[in-house]
Amino acid sequence: MKHFVSLNDIDSLQEWVEGALLLKKNPSAYKNLGEEKTIGLLFFNNSLRTRLSTQKAAMNLGMKVMIMNFGKDGWALEFEDGTIMDQGNAEHVKEAARVVSQYCDILGIRAFASLKNKEEDEAEVVISSFKKYASIPVLNMESSLSHPLQALADAITIQEHQESPQPKIVLSWAPHPKALPHAVANSFVEVMQLQDANFTITHPKGYELDPKITKDIKIEYDQEKALKDADFVYVKNWSNYTNYGKVINHDKNWMITQKKLGNAKFMHCLPVRRNVVVEDAVLDGNQSLVIEQANNRTFAAQIVLKKILEAIK
Ligand code: CP
Repeated sequence: MKHFVSLNDIDSLQEWVEGALLLKKNPSAYKNLGEEKTIGLLFFNNSLRTRLSTQKAAMNLGMKVMIMNFGKDGWALEFEDGTIMDQGNAEHVKEAARVVSQYCDILGIRAFASLKNKEEDEAEVVISSFKKYASIPVLNMESSLSHPLQALADAITIQEHQESPQPKIVLSWAPHPKALPHAVANSFVEVMQLQDANFTITHPKGYELDPKITKDIKIEYDQEKALKDADFVYVKNWSNYTNYGKVINHDKNWMITQKKLGNAKFMHCLPVRRNVVVEDAVLDGNQSLVIEQANNRTFAAQIVLKKILEAIK
């Protein structure tokens, strides 16, 4: 494997999850693997967990880390081929990607969906361009369509907490005041298709995710019915996919409460808006796995970086 841009770059989810759990037991087991190697992390959007956990993972492997808030500090990038650059964008990705490739051995990119233009978002212009023009492996730290590092951390967390071979897992939409991308939900759906689970998605009618991703997964529009007897409830808001990027439903009844959760474990990628997406009692209770999910981000990133380092050695 050279790049890690989607869950398709994982050859065996089970093997990677087990590898991550071994790294969790002994984070410095491969502390010399990344010696003399540098990872560059370019952020076009904000981050807490991805930034620090990927940095931590790289340091556990002995790598040097360079981080740039590209959206704020970098030159505004042009991505179109053959364009006349007489407007705002000062640097073309063709040069930027090749320049960064000289300073680093692996390049992490975070670039969210704009939610303004579905076709542009679905082309994944930023990460695809870096992948095309960089001469080093590219790591997806959340792109327009996917957040594979989060999904891998989620799979690790489920593995640690599941009590049956085929747990009932529900992905539930929840309300949010702002329009949010589909990446986390997409990747969670994709990772569920790679493991044994009784998996259901619940959301208000009209909030269907991309059918190319959900395929034949069961959708239950009655949230209460969907959550019945669940072992894990993964909660996430996403903006409307059909009416692209719009917030058309503010129904507070979709918020997750302790009563709705029942005996299930609660999962969310964070950051989360308290008492909008989920009530305090859930986040403050002992059924919440959100802090452990964030912890597992380090070991998800570490297994991915380990695989890339082994491939480029
Ligand atoms: N879950 C996640 O990716 O968190 P950050 O946006 O803080 O990196």
